[in-house]
Amino acid sequence: MNEKLSSIKQEILDGIEAKATSRATAFELRKQFLDSKTGTIGQLMKEMKNIAPEERANYGKEVNELKAWATDVFAKLDEEMKAKELKAKYEAEKIDVTMPAKEYQTGNLHPITQMRNQLIDVFAGMGFEIFEGTEIENDYYNFTALNTPQDHPARDMQDTFYLSPEFLLRTQTSAGQIHVMENKKPPIKILSPGKVFRSDDDATHSPMFTQMEGLVVDEKITLCDLKGMLDVFVQKIYGEGATTRLRPSYFPFTEPSVEVDVSCFECGGKGCKLCKGTGWIEILGAGIVNKKVLENCGIDSEKYSGLAFGIGIERTAMLKYGINNIKLLFESDIKVLKQIDDN
Ligand code: PHE
Repeated sequence: MNEKLSSIKQEILDGIEAKATSRATAFELRKQFLDSKTGTIGQLMKEMKNIAPEERANYGKEVNELKAWATDVFAKLDEEMKAKELKAKYEAEKIDVTMPAKEYQTGNLHPITQMRNQLIDVFAGMGFEIFEGTEIENDYYNFTALNTPQDHPARDMQDTFYLSPEFLLRTQTSAGQIHVMENKKPPIKILSPGKVFRSDDDATHSPMFTQMEGLVVDEKITLCDLKGMLDVFVQKIYGEGATTRLRPSYFPFTEPSVEVDVSCFECGGKGCKLCKGTGWIEILGAGIVNKKVLENCGIDSEKYSGLAFGIGIERTAMLKYGINNIKLLFESDIKVLKQIDDN
């Protein structure tokens, strides 16, 4: 009997040695010996009835001891396997905190959008509302109502993309002035950003570019109001020290018309490469709304006057960020666009 029990013990130890590689295999092995119906030790218990009565007590005691021993061995084995598996799991999930972090690419707004937003901020602060016109206009809104009839020489100032004899891609956001004045009575204070199109293409001109039109119509609007607003604009965009200078110019829809220069923010007015030694940089066209334009829109030009300006957004951005070719703004080269994050 003793021999049989010790050989079972050995079988258990050998089995563990050979097969118990995981909690699952250890559990299978346990079943093989300890399952009350099918297990080797379970079978020994069942044989009790075949044992001579005088040996029964001893047999039972020995089998029970073996059972207790095996139960203990398998419990310890299970603990061991559990610890081993947990360790392996932790090992697999280990994070190397010294590894360089994954780089997440964050986008930024396109420089034109940034510039547009900055301009809107500046003028919204002065009480301007936004009006977005349409990119397709008819001849009347883009030219005729802006005091530029069919045979007017000023039409040559802007090479137009015609879609049909009547419709065209707007050459200027000034077209929006007419829509606004037709639909709203003074006081008017609007800002109209948007794409415009001209058959023009070189380092500083693109066939499609963006303008920001400003229009103010009220009683007693003068060039002083215009200069005051534009001074605020250049100070906010180009720095506190910036100021403007107005030079006489010509646009059919403003009278008088001015070309506006900003004092060179690169050299402070001393003269440098950027301002070509003059201390001033031309930035936009503006003027007092021509009485004829007010009248075309049914606004009493004796009672009201207006000011208008048209800012080129690309030009403003190119000056501010030192971009020397307008194409860089349209080529979508991430390396270029990433460098301009000003919001
Ligand atoms: N529309 C003019 C242009 O595109 C700019 C401008 C706007 C001038 C408003 C005067 C007043 O050149």
